[in-house]
Amino acid sequence: MNREEPKVFLSEEAIRRRVAKLGRRISNDYAKVENLHLIGVLRGSFIFIADLSRALTIPRSVDFLAMSTYESTVVPKGPVRLITDLRTDIAGKHVLVVEDIVDTGDTLDYLMSLLASRGPASLKCCTLLSKPACRKTEVRIDYLGFEIPDVWVVGYGLDDKERYRALPYIGIRSGEPAV
Ligand code: IMP
Ligand code: MG
Repeated sequence: MNREEPKVFLSEEAIRRRVAKLGRRISNDYAKVENLHLIGVLRGSFIFIADLSRALTIPRSVDFLAMSTYESTVVPKGPVRLITDLRTDIAGKHVLVVEDIVDTGDTLDYLMSLLASRGPASLKCCTLLSKPACRKTEVRIDYLGFEIPDVWVVGYGLDDKERYRALPYIGIRSGEPAV
């Protein structure tokens, strides 16, 4: 088994700076709303939403849902499914979906239509990472951390078959070609 640590792709410091900046932008954009309802997409976004929610200076609440995931080796992947739903009713709320990464765009596309049908006052999304080269379904990303090439990244919540989620930085598995 390969025990080598993934190579640093985005350092802790680079992530911290970017998350702080996103926090300032979002706080500014929602300065006039009574409350911003953050929705974290489990499991990949759990660390990002923890940091992002603390970088906000406006009133906010947090809820989670879970979507089906796929393994990097399974091609083509199956349809996107909702596994665990929200605890809260989002009708009339200002909602910001917080994702770890947008790859094909299928997950976010499905999720945004589903949530839009529940009548939120507004609905936007924030994703830490995006791989535009992998897009199959065009999706609008309102707030983006970093655009990255078509590589499998791990850490800061993202996994490779459940490994590496707790890495403090975003890395590339050793063996993956350098970018
Ligand atoms: P999409 O529906 O193809 O956009 O898939 C998005 C989901 O796939 C993300 O929320 C992740 O859970 C997973 N994913 C896509 N790329 C990566 C990656 O490079 N590392 C870890 N998970 C990924
Ligand atoms: Mg995700």
